[in-house]
Amino acid sequence: ARLGVLISGRGSNMAALLHASRLMADCPYEIVLVAANDPQAPGLAMAAAEGIATFGQSHQGLGRAAFDAIIEAELHRHGVTHVALAGYMRLLSPGFVERWAGRCFNIHPSLLPAHKGLHVHEAVLAAGETMSGCTVHLVTAELDGGPILGQARVAVLPGDTPESLAARILIAEHQLYPRVIANQFRSVSEPLPRLRALALALP
Ligand code: GRF
Repeated sequence: ARLGVLISGRGSNMAALLHASRLMADCPYEIVLVAANDPQAPGLAMAAAEGIATFGQSHQGLGRAAFDAIIEAELHRHGVTHVALAGYMRLLSPGFVERWAGRCFNIHPSLLPAHKGLHVHEAVLAAGETMSGCTVHLVTAELDGGPILGQARVAVLPGDTPESLAARILIAEHQLYPRVIANQFRSVSEPLPRLRALALALP
């Protein structure tokens, strides 16, 4: 798969996806473009330094569909087949979501369906929960509401602040996201050699 990653800021999940793809034997995805809705997003500079094509443009003054069309043109220009949102702080237009249905992933720092949207860690702590985590899901029209592909659980510690909890969950995010995305492609391609071996073993 040719992955396009959409970011808005730091880009640490993008970096995790990138390094995992380089370290994994036979990684089934390759990052071919990192795009941001802010040309100053630090993650863009990181991706560029790693030799990845980047695109940064502010969404300001553009309607949602118009801005998404610009992003989508870039995705097509680079032959992107799948999209990973990684800290992309902008709602996608319904048309974009529809056209990339089943091919657009997101990571969210909670155990969905609990705590969708923003200020997740504050909400977890305010509710006195002892377990949180992160979720990778397919993007649908409902914010943080698409089918769940994988989750990692992270314990809440006594004395946690939203910042300390976020930092610990981020470690799990970096492990989870590359694995889940890689598995999306493996789950269809991996059984094939096994089936072929079975077929060969038949009399
Ligand atoms: C991550 O916690 C992600 O789950 C959330 O925003 C944060 C982005 O961080 N959606 P980064 O830009 O990947 O470092």
